[in-house]
Amino acid sequence: MEEILREEIARIGSVPCARFMEVALYQPEHGYYERDRTVVGQRGDFYTSVSVGPLFGQMLGFQFAEWLDACGMRNAERGQPDAPLQIVEAGAHDGQLAEDILNWLARHRPDVLPRIEYWILDPSLRRQGWQRGRLSRFAPHVRWFANWAEIQQAGGVTGIIFANELLDAFPVHRVAWRAAEQQWFEWGVRTAGDRFIWTRLPALHLNVSALMDPSAALSNLDESLRASSWASLAPVLPDGFILELNPFAEFWWGLAARSLRHGKLLTFDYGHTTTDVIHPDKPHGTLRAYRDHHQVDDILASPGTQDITAHVNFAAITHAGERAGLLTSELVGQGRYLTNIAQRTMQQTAVFGEWHGERVRQFQTLSHPDHLGRSFSVLVQERS
Ligand SMILES: C[S@@+](CC[C@H](N)C(=O)[O-])C[C@H]1O[C@@H](n2cnc3c(N)ncnc32)[C@H](O)[C@@H]1O
Repeated sequence: MEEILREEIARIGSVPCARFMEVALYQPEHGYYERDRTVVGQRGDFYTSVSVGPLFGQMLGFQFAEWLDACGMRNAERGQPDAPLQIVEAGAHDGQLAEDILNWLARHRPDVLPRIEYWILDPSLRRQGWQRGRLSRFAPHVRWFANWAEIQQAGGVTGIIFANELLDAFPVHRVAWRAAEQQWFEWGVRTAGDRFIWTRLPALHLNVSALMDPSAALSNLDESLRASSWASLAPVLPDGFILELNPFAEFWWGLAARSLRHGKLLTFDYGHTTTDVIHPDKPHGTLRAYRDHHQVDDILASPGTQDITAHVNFAAITHAGERAGLLTSELVGQGRYLTNIAQRTMQQTAVFGEWHGERVRQFQTLSHPDHLGRSFSVLVQERS
């Protein structure tokens, strides 16, 4: 990994942070998310809601079945009672969440399973292999896609498209405010001896996302900075104030939105939910690296062996979905979102199953503000 990055930097001098992150996380041979399926979870570098236990998938299964019932009724009203419905999971990693959802549906809503197809969107053949292994029991119901173009060719989605902690793993550009010149500049990465260090790039770069999705439109960061809702705050920012821009996440969400013919599009992520993109407590931005469940000081150290992530800008993502014609139904903390579902499951224990001690313990971790309840948010958009 280090050789690959060194060679690219030697060729062009320095690379934008987004390119460094893209290679470090997704280079097909040595990228962090390609290397080893156990990077997520107890034995890995960070937890997600999925690593807490099967409850997260069970609650999503319950909620998705309700939504799919409504989609099925709509199809019936339109004279197409047998038209297929889809659940599309993007960024399924080792397939654990898919397995939790499908297990719950098979056991508690066996009427739903024959009516749906579970589609997994994952560009990596290696990860698809892990997922196929885990989901072999559900093979007739599962189908894989490498990008949105393939999903659109298959006719698009009627049902649900969702992702858990995917947008916060997309590569970001890192820009900083230069107060004396009243201008933004971009932080890039170069080599110094055997280390990688931050360096000021001579100009704002274009969005580079060749590995992520070759069809990604090149967007001009300068334009994004000028068009943002907080652009007018820039002149009063302290010198060096850092922000991350994630044009790829906005582009990706727009593609997801356009692939949704009818139903819901949702994501669980941590990030900025309001205007707090510019926050006095975060003058150095939100880019972080994790290893063995600890934050690592040197984000650029040992690329490919540690996770790198940044807050999602939910305002920008919401806007991208609305531009593609979706309505925003909810943007709430994960705690509140899961509590609403839990209340309905308690009125329907015959469907959901009993709330035994282990489920209660997992629910507390998923929803308590001191655990995952406040740090994660849920954005739900829909097309009727
Ligand atoms: C932070 S992990 C989340 C894993 C899983 N969703 C969970 O909750 O445990 C993000 C996953 O999305 C995958 N991924 C990255 N880019 C993707 C893309 N363009 N489309 C689909 N999945 C992608 C990553 O490789 C990784 O497996």
